Amino acid sequence: MNLVYQGKTKDVYALEDGNYLLKFKDDVTGVNGVFDPGANTVGLSMEGAGKAGLRLTKFFFEKLNQMGIPTHFIDADLDQVTMTVKKAAPFGKGLEVICRFRAVGSFLRRYEMYAEDGQALDALVEVTLKDDDRNDPPISKDALDMLGILSKEEYEILKDLTKQIGNIVKDELAKKGLELYDIKFEFGRVGEDHHIALIDEISGGNMRAYRNNTRVEPLELTKIMVQED
Ligand SMILES: Nc1ncnc2c1ncn2[C@@H]1O[C@H](COP(=O)(O)OP(=O)(O)O)[C@@H](O)[C@H]1O
Ligand SMILES: [Mg+2]
Repeated sequence: MNLVYQGKTKDVYALEDGNYLLKFKDDVTGVNGVFDPGANTVGLSMEGAGKAGLRLTKFFFEKLNQMGIPTHFIDADLDQVTMTVKKAAPFGKGLEVICRFRAVGSFLRRYEMYAEDGQALDALVEVTLKDDDRNDPPISKDALDMLGILSKEEYEILKDLTKQIGNIVKDELAKKGLELYDIKFEFGRVGEDHHIALIDEISGGNMRAYRNNTRVEPLELTKIMVQED
């Protein structure tokens, strides 16, 4: 097994058959010990966070695969806290795609002149560059096309998939009495035909979920969503 990348919350290994293995760590993004799914630094470490993230990721990716939505997911090993995935090529050096149901976080900070705190946003999609040094700047469809990162046709596919998957996650949370405020996805090109597929993870570390106007932290979210075995 060949370590190809050490991320903030996962380590990435190349397998001999060409697939990748993602090892989930107990690190969580945030600032000064406070969890923030939009942060670009490891803010805290919580025992069991990796396994909880993997458990929820497995739950959602299995559901998406069953529904025929393209993803990188092959299988997960909860004991090893690893997930086997199809290797994906990133768009440029990587994009983050955010699906917003309420105005909070960086959206609210940017548009405070117009947006009200917590205002409904109906699956609004935003794309940002994965660029920690520049704090993940938002990028438009035209700029993505002009810079050769993503064609206009691909942008529409990405946007539709994001809305679709965002709504699936929202509906699953709603079944447990939780409300999804926003969620961050990553996509890549997968397979010989380079089709666009959802990659990375869907865990509490990538979303803001609330119950009775109270934020539900990542570990708690997994507990609510997936039965412990
Ligand atoms: N199927 C895949 N193929 C290639 N890279 C992937 C795949 N799934 C996730 N990744 C990448 O692996 C890394 C996972 O580690 P993570 O700790 O989340 O990194 P980061 O600090 O960049 O967020 C991310 O950079 C993500 O883009
Ligand atoms: Mg990440």
